[in-house]
Amino acid sequence: MRHSRKFASLAAASVLAMTLAACSGGGSSGGSSSGGLSGDAGANLDGRGPITYVQGKDNSNVVRPLVDKWNAAHPTEKVTFKEQSDKADQQHDDLVQNFQAKNANYDVVDVDVVWTAEFAAKGWLQPLKDKMAFDTTGFLPATVATATYKNTLYAAPQTSDGGLLYYRKDLVPTPPKTWDEMMSMCSIAKAKGIDCYAGQFAQYEGLTVNAAEAINTAGGVIVDKDGKPAVNTPEAKAGLSNLVNAFKDGNIPKQAITYQEEQGRQSFESGKLLFLRNWPYVYNLAKTDGSSVVKDTFGIAPLPGKTGPGASSLGGHNIAMSVYSKHKATAMDFMKFMTSQETEKFYATQGSLAPVLSALYTDKDLVAKLPYLPVLLTSIQNAVPRPVSPFYPAVTQAVQVNAYAALKGDKSVDQALTDMQAALTAAGSQ
Ligand code: GLC
Repeated sequence: MRHSRKFASLAAASVLAMTLAACSGGGSSGGSSSGGLSGDAGANLDGRGPITYVQGKDNSNVVRPLVDKWNAAHPTEKVTFKEQSDKADQQHDDLVQNFQAKNANYDVVDVDVVWTAEFAAKGWLQPLKDKMAFDTTGFLPATVATATYKNTLYAAPQTSDGGLLYYRKDLVPTPPKTWDEMMSMCSIAKAKGIDCYAGQFAQYEGLTVNAAEAINTAGGVIVDKDGKPAVNTPEAKAGLSNLVNAFKDGNIPKQAITYQEEQGRQSFESGKLLFLRNWPYVYNLAKTDGSSVVKDTFGIAPLPGKTGPGASSLGGHNIAMSVYSKHKATAMDFMKFMTSQETEKFYATQGSLAPVLSALYTDKDLVAKLPYLPVLLTSIQNAVPRPVSPFYPAVTQAVQVNAYAALKGDKSVDQALTDMQAALTAAGSQ
């Protein structure tokens, strides 16, 4: 409690400081057209012209066709696609550097759901209110929450993400419902000479996702409902131990300690892995990649849990506008285009990305094409958000560093959780 109060008051103070700085700062077009927005957030609201859209690697090849379509219809407001790497942490750091440099050419950016609070608190994202309001009617409430900070919307939900279990239905006709059941099926993998289970265990954001899922699934939490770190518990210990033990006994292969999303996908597609925890984007690639040998032999199930389905971490990406953009009217139109019903349907059919619009989960066409949609909706609706904090980089470091040390056997699970709790507490009192 003490820490969360301290944290809240500091956060409020920094917002106040920022507001003051913004009022005295050199916003060029304040006045009536700013509609209550001030400083950089009040500038260039009517600006139109070419813009840049910045996003991580377009694994599913959805961005280029959309940008081409937009550009054909908007010859004087063309979008240039700046593609970042496929690694979440590198994407984050690139955005931070460019925001710090007030780069006016990072007009519209793709923001992982866990970065909203940090970027909003720093004053880098255009608040979507007043003249820049964005209508979120029809969006899944959980996705809107990930784009909101201190009751203000700072981004438009673009694609959601929920963890799924990819499995080889030729080898395991009925997927495991629980973690223990899945572990017992590893003998099937062994008999075939393939690896049993992998998720994302390299030290980066994906490990925070996977560690949180293990902990939440076992009944633990990273932070409690008041936002106070509460990870040093028997439940969290049971959850993290599941991963640690699976590494020890080889049910998770040693090399998975280097896996981000793409390495696990490649292993699964090449037929070398029985079970894979990954996001929905893998479905389309595993079905269509020339190199996928599992095209007709894989299925999708809910993540395995303690007694029933496990708890996914809520993933996803939101589309936001930089306060430093000079062409905000164009940026807003492009954000609407990138989140329209038609575009959301395209993300789903072309890239098997999770829609943010509720109606699409019961759209007959879509469900016929993507039979896993109901499982995905359940995953998203039951997903647990990662902690919301303007100091998220320190929060995720606290989880990653200690979970990684436990998985590698450098720290006992007890020590890792004690240290994680301390580092989370320090992160909340910055
Ligand atoms: C996916 C998720 C995102 C998560 C990342 C971790 O891109 O959508 O929320 O942080 O994976 O690698």
